Amino acid sequence: MANVIAIANQKGGVGKTTTAINLAGSLAEQGFHLLCVDMDAQANLTVGLGINLGTVDRSMADVLVDGGSTIEEIVIPTQTSGIDVAPSTLELASTEVELFTSIGREHALREALAGWAHDHYDYILIDCPPTLGLLTINGLVAATHVIIPVQTQYYALKGLSALVKVINQIRNKGLNPDLRVMGLLPTFYDRRTILGREMLDELREMGDHHIFKSMVKQTVKLGEAPLAGRPVTAYATNSDAARTYRGLAQEVIDLA
Ligand SMILES: Nc1ncnc2c1ncn2[C@@H]1O[C@H](COP(=O)(O)OP(=O)(O)OP(=O)(O)O)[C@@H](O)[C@H]1O
Ligand SMILES: [Mg+2]
Repeated sequence: MANVIAIANQKGGVGKTTTAINLAGSLAEQGFHLLCVDMDAQANLTVGLGINLGTVDRSMADVLVDGGSTIEEIVIPTQTSGIDVAPSTLELASTEVELFTSIGREHALREALAGWAHDHYDYILIDCPPTLGLLTINGLVAATHVIIPVQTQYYALKGLSALVKVINQIRNKGLNPDLRVMGLLPTFYDRRTILGREMLDELREMGDHHIFKSMVKQTVKLGEAPLAGRPVTAYATNSDAARTYRGLAQEVIDLA
């Protein structure tokens, strides 16, 4: 069975997709086989892994809707060895609406990953959209673990309790009793600012969840990497950002 890690936070722009791409890059460097699942209609994960959306004819939208495609049918290899992607397109936005009225709607992704994907990959990373809607819930129901990127710049803790509440409901209502929060990942960290340091202290004081030792600093390298269509580990292999994501990969391997 693969480790299935959802990367979730309903707050936008906190580094979910960046983490999915670069954690994938670091795990692939170690020889693991990865599937990156794009659950966001913005398709930033798909594009960030170098896929031209014009070439995608079937996507997660087809997988999640009854009678559509299997995950095996839509998976495409990326230009980074060891990483495949289950792409998304804008259509996924209407899928969320369609799912709303379907039976077993919270389990659609979990069922789609059962079998082939679990047998084929060591890690499945699910990039969730910036909402707490059905697509994110599908990601959390399908996952063994969740990583929560937390931006250490703005007041980022405010939405955290809503996410934790949804995670607890998913566990308690039996949708995915074994779901574990692997940890909170500080992102956009700038140790020169008081705010960055205060945020980190506040996170630590909460004490409810593990906080990864790896902290992703604010850096232009991570803004550039998606344009290259490859993880930073391949694009700027000796950068501080690449080292940080390699460190995160090691923590993930140890915690999974
Ligand atoms: N540590 C960082 N330093 C600088 N820029 C970053 C960093 N991490 C991510 N970025 C950039 O910030 C933007 C938002 O990051 P990203 O897309 O990973 O966030 P997200 O949480 O997936 O956003 P959304 O909620 O819209 O899906 C992107 O342009 C990305 O390249
Ligand atoms: Mg994203």
